[in-house]
Amino acid sequence: MTRFTVNGNPTQYQLAADTPLLWALREASNLTGTKFGCGAGLCGACTVHVDGVAQRSCQISIGSIEGTYVTTIEGLADDRDHPVQVAWLEKQVPQCGFCQSGMIMAAAALLKTNPNPSRADIRAAISNICRCGTYPRVETAILRAAE
Ligand code: FES
Repeated sequence: MTRFTVNGNPTQYQLAADTPLLWALREASNLTGTKFGCGAGLCGACTVHVDGVAQRSCQISIGSIEGTYVTTIEGLADDRDHPVQVAWLEKQVPQCGFCQSGMIMAAAALLKTNPNPSRADIRAAISNICRCGTYPRVETAILRAAE
């Protein structure tokens, strides 16, 4: 059994310790906002926060994060939308939308460590892939969220 906190809820998983966090979240916790893209740590569609740090959940075994605090897109906002989500709506960032929850999680983690990033900082920090090419709007929305 593996225990950690998911979106503020203490959670126990009766899954093998090498189960990827992505699949524990999606299949055992039904938190399907975290997406499966490549399964190889490349695309970032599966990005969540583990103890506040953006991580690719397809590459993390649940056994390695015992006792941590995991936040998914479903838990990013509290009673009001997160500023990144507000900016995403204002700037109409998504196209197909598949990568966007991971993109938002990466953006929120960036702003936590760098509340006033430049475009160069954003490009250096956000390596998530968007097949629709929404990168210019992603950058604009992150700058807006930082205002
Ligand atoms: Fe995890 Fe692509 S699904 S990085």
